[in-house]
Amino acid sequence: MTPLTIRSALPADEAAWKALWQGYCDFYKASVSDAVTRRTWARILDPDAAVMCIVAEHGGQVVGFANCVVHENTWELQAVCYLEDLYVAPAARGQGAGRALIEWLRNAMRAEGWARLYWMTHKDNVMARDLYDQFTQADDFVRYVVRPGG
Ligand SMILES: CC(C)(COP(=O)(O)OP(=O)(O)OC[C@H]1O[C@@H](n2cnc3c(N)ncnc32)[C@H](O)[C@@H]1OP(=O)(O)O)[C@@H](O)C(=O)NCCC(=O)NCCS
Repeated sequence: MTPLTIRSALPADEAAWKALWQGYCDFYKASVSDAVTRRTWARILDPDAAVMCIVAEHGGQVVGFANCVVHENTWELQAVCYLEDLYVAPAARGQGAGRALIEWLRNAMRAEGWARLYWMTHKDNVMARDLYDQFTQADDFVRYVVRPGG
């Protein structure tokens, strides 16, 4: 079997990342402007930005990504890592890429000294939750979102 590689995103991954990002936005029925997509990609490549991205490569093809934000917090001395977006191309699912991306981040947490790695998902996202439940139990917090328009 072709090995699966997890690595930081590189400039040459732009086209592959953008295609997967589009798939991810479609999955959420979200319309994200080109300006946001361009800025997100630019921040991924910017070593001074808090946004980072790792990709899963299979047989020389980028088949998935995890976008994260590493940020300060008020509860611990160390930074924490928020896994904001996780996506694997439909044809590559069920082969361990999603798990490997999270495992890579869990190892990075230990190596970088982050206090926590955390993420959220829709309560009915069974496929994702099957995977997440193998890492930890979901807690009881719920999300509130307020927007400028009220
Ligand atoms: C969630 C997602 C990232 C998982 O990626 P993946 O590469 O398929 O995951 P893996 O191959 O590592 O699968 C690991 C576990 O996921 C679950 N899983 C994978 N495919 C599944 C399927 N078709 N049905 C149900 N569970 C599934 C299983 O629990 C599996 O564990 P197992 O190998 O012990 O059976 C992928 O399905 C995806 O991109 N989904 C659409 C976007 C999404 O929901 N992102 C997460 C938003 S928070």
